[in-house]
Amino acid sequence: MTDISELTLEEKASLTSGADFWTTKSVERLGIPAIMLTDGPHGLRKQAGDSDHLGLAASVPATCFPPAVGLGSSWDADLAERVGVALGVESAIEDVAVILGPGVNIKRSPLCGRNFEYFSEDPVVSGTMAAALVRGIQSQGVGASLKHFAANNQETDRLRVSSDVDPRPLREIYLRAFQRVVRDASPWTIMCSYNRVNGVYASEDPWLLTSVLRDEWGFDGLVMSDWGAVNDRVAGVAAGLDLEMPSSGGRTDAQLVAAVRDGSLDERALDAVTQRVVDLVSKVGDRGAQSGPLDVEAHHALAREVAGRCLVLLKNDSELLPLAREARIAVIGEFARTPRYQGAGSSQINPTRVDTSWDAIRTEASIEPVFAAGFTLDDSGNTDALREEAVAAAADAEVAVVFLGVPAEEESEGFDRQHMDLPADQLRLVTEIVAANSRTIVVLSNGGAVTLPFADSVPAILEGWLLGQAGGTATADVLFGAVNPSGKLTETIPLRLEDAPSFGNFPGEHGHVRYGEGLLVGYRGYDSADRAVAFPFGHGMSYTSFEYGDASASERADGDIVVSVSVTNAGPVAGREVVQVYTSLPESSVQRPPRELKGFAVVLAEAGETVNAEIVLRRDELAYWDTRVDRWIVEGGSYRVDVGASSRDIRTTTQIDLDGDDVAIPLSLSSSFDEVLAHPVAGPLLTDSLEAQPGGIEPEMLKMLGNFPVGRLDGFPLPRRDLEAIIDKVHQPHGD
Ligand code: BGC
Repeated sequence: MTDISELTLEEKASLTSGADFWTTKSVERLGIPAIMLTDGPHGLRKQAGDSDHLGLAASVPATCFPPAVGLGSSWDADLAERVGVALGVESAIEDVAVILGPGVNIKRSPLCGRNFEYFSEDPVVSGTMAAALVRGIQSQGVGASLKHFAANNQETDRLRVSSDVDPRPLREIYLRAFQRVVRDASPWTIMCSYNRVNGVYASEDPWLLTSVLRDEWGFDGLVMSDWGAVNDRVAGVAAGLDLEMPSSGGRTDAQLVAAVRDGSLDERALDAVTQRVVDLVSKVGDRGAQSGPLDVEAHHALAREVAGRCLVLLKNDSELLPLAREARIAVIGEFARTPRYQGAGSSQINPTRVDTSWDAIRTEASIEPVFAAGFTLDDSGNTDALREEAVAAAADAEVAVVFLGVPAEEESEGFDRQHMDLPADQLRLVTEIVAANSRTIVVLSNGGAVTLPFADSVPAILEGWLLGQAGGTATADVLFGAVNPSGKLTETIPLRLEDAPSFGNFPGEHGHVRYGEGLLVGYRGYDSADRAVAFPFGHGMSYTSFEYGDASASERADGDIVVSVSVTNAGPVAGREVVQVYTSLPESSVQRPPRELKGFAVVLAEAGETVNAEIVLRRDELAYWDTRVDRWIVEGGSYRVDVGASSRDIRTTTQIDLDGDDVAIPLSLSSSFDEVLAHPVAGPLLTDSLEAQPGGIEPEMLKMLGNFPVGRLDGFPLPRRDLEAIIDKVHQPHGD
């Protein structure tokens, strides 16, 4: 263990910034080695040779697992943990110390260019999946880097924009997933984001990096900057930023040295961040040697299994799916042979191999299918001729499987999408195909949600998101029923962009984006406005059907709530169901969305089997952030517990009565009558005094006075000195 007092000031400054794009600096004199940090998060992107960070330089081949948009749709933490283990193994073989992911930013708008790298519009799904991934990675002695901390929900102006978020949504939506991962998985590192949060750069925000992250949540790992996120390194170190990445060429190291020398930076702050870098380096050293080579086949097989669990069957009229192997199939759409399986930017993996749906369907089908491209991915070629050929192929076939998607150049890190529609030529194609053959199945490839104007006329739709390198075979597994689909949406698919709760407040202007929808993000917003959607959050079908028994809920000694429900597989094949538990508090004193996800479980049931699902809802998860006292409060009351197959398919409801946390709201003469009446000590005193008044006080009058500050009234309904006496009593230490 290095004693940092042996380091010179210059060495400390130098250790806390990168040597180049991907490595830290060493101090040979004290035996401190350099370590390597690389992207992530759905595969290893270790660049060979000269490095850049936007994916231009080639990286070593690695398994490309489904990006978070796909993996999230499995809702399966165990599966995510297995992916994490595989990522850890690949990193260790390549001698990578920290893999830069996962990302748990909330999908606030369907337009965010990086939504494919994030799990959900909901913090419980995001936090649960990311914690599992982190556990898996770190089980191999490789660090994870939870990113991008915080409120980085768009790409537009991402290096400067201020995300202006009120305290409740900031805590309850945007920070909550980070908090869960820190608590459940202790990531070795966290990456702060580029943007500002309420005006302050994340990379230099002492509230974010120290008060919240370390003092409140107990994080004891290292905070690194996103690549180029440092605005003022000296302010960053004072705020708790441990490592600047990538290298600043020594420029900011010199600033630190100068700041310590001129007294503007306390050397103890530099010592603290240096210590964390040294601690990280020694954690990596403990890993021991890992042996290669990579088992490419085994990891590809895992990528296939995982991808099969990520597809979401949006609809399946007349049980058009699964396909019979003997069917005469027309495979249409360029994506079937040129798949889109990952997003672009810093997470782009150089896959060990890539499966296509076209090859996989040909392998599985007993009759040779026909293929028609239908459109091109680069606007070349004769679109009309391609469409006509595809429509003719569909008309001749028993069933048409049409692969549609968002062109790669529309979705990437670095910019947001301008709209959420599929290209016009693809929409025209599918309209003509379904007119020619009503037995049409659409398979989608897209990193962010798209509008589905054909949803009513096309009988079967499989949302494939981005499925990683084995997505092609996994898609065929689901199409032919070798895998029974069990993915569920982790984001709402709206009917129109204009319906999205963030619409009008995204992406902001002139350096600010106002999170004007507050708590009403994603399904919380669609539900509170009672707005129709194309497919709701949590939705996803199966080739079997599930029946739910009556749910029950009980409180455990530790305060957490256990929800139990039986689930029966009432159909012909084994299948998995994601049982979702939502709560609400109808009598709440604060704003609450109609329903919020608080827990979920994946159950596997054979045909005809009944299994019992037990879902633990953490008491903490029921808390809201109370801005009067700046802390989490669980309100007492009768909570409604909805259990179902999606946010809009609630199968059984129960309730649970909970005692609330004590909240001592400080009272003053500016407190309202209602606030004083609600106070556990002052309330009864005020009631007694009011009742003692000659003639008492009418309830209507009390209602009218409810929001008057008590200090504004003198003589009616009470003399001011009586009110002052009540307030004073509350302030006495033992208040008798
Ligand atoms: C991205 C990070 C990534 C880093 C290194 C940044 O541009 O925002 O997610 O880990 O580059 O490539």
